[in-house]
Amino acid sequence: MKVAQKVAIVTGGGGGIGGAIAERLAAQGAKVMVADLDPTAAAAVANRINDRHPGSALAEGADVANADHIRRIIERAETEFGPVALYFANAGVGGAPGLEASDADWDHVLDVNLRAHIRAAQQLVPKWIERGEGYFVTTASAAGLLTQIGSATYAVTKHAAVGFAEWLSVTYGDQGICVSCLCPMGVDTAMLYAGRDSGDPLGVAATQAVMSAGEVLQPAQVADVVLDAVDRETFLVLPHGNVLSMYQQKGSDYDRWIRGMRRYQGSLLGHV
Ligand SMILES: NC(=O)c1ccc[n+]([C@@H]2O[C@H](COP(=O)([O-])OP(=O)(O)OC[C@H]3O[C@@H](n4cnc5c(N)ncnc54)[C@H](O)[C@@H]3O)[C@@H](O)[C@H]2O)c1
Repeated sequence: MKVAQKVAIVTGGGGGIGGAIAERLAAQGAKVMVADLDPTAAAAVANRINDRHPGSALAEGADVANADHIRRIIERAETEFGPVALYFANAGVGGAPGLEASDADWDHVLDVNLRAHIRAAQQLVPKWIERGEGYFVTTASAAGLLTQIGSATYAVTKHAAVGFAEWLSVTYGDQGICVSCLCPMGVDTAMLYAGRDSGDPLGVAATQAVMSAGEVLQPAQVADVVLDAVDRETFLVLPHGNVLSMYQQKGSDYDRWIRGMRRYQGSLLGHV
């Protein structure tokens, strides 16, 4: 899809990958609703965009764990800019490292990393089918194809986000709906360091697992790859080339891959 003149919403747009995607969208001529739990961060990104591309960005403080907030950002974008053509379900959280995660922890991570995507699609896809086009971009993670050492909540919900994106694409792809699923490994944002900063050994291992597995990219590099994928309408977006070969190895011999992951985790925790 060509994004020029289109209206896009980016959740978690107040910084990191989402902020960079919002800036790239505006640079390519789109109108962008920058939504984030942190309204100040969302406003800062929108102001920066409007300085360069006047009238291109709106900011809204919104918690994607709340279905009413999702409705509100879509309605405001439509009222002020026009029909929403692209939705970047990008906001994400990590959650607790291990089995100690409570039901409330699981609910929160499921709400942000999965249900927010479902709720946005429920509102947008019927309109997109009527209009004959629409684009849903999921920010999942390499953890959604492989796993996340040190975080069950993250690994599970990112797999679920990949599963939902696949299902959307299979189900509506023939009705003009495009879906892309971004699965990066390490990106230099606050989220990457959250595990390390938690001090929990599994959390520290989570950050270390990602940082040791390959290059840590800048958000702007990831945004370029995402916008290119949107232009070409490709489903799987892998800014880190080695994720594909790891995914292929997993698919070709699951047990061998799990044994390798155990060894890798053991080395990170100092057990081997
Ligand atoms: N950084 C990485 O290494 C990495 C790797 C793979 C995938 N990702 C994914 O990329 C996405 C963006 O993360 P990032 O790396 O840019 O981190 P980040 O911490 O810089 O940005 C996340 C943004 O989401 C916002 N947010 C959190 N909860 C929210 C909520 N309930 N409602 C609305 N906004 C909320 C935060 O305020 C923050 O601005 C996430 O889905 C993350 O899982 C990140």
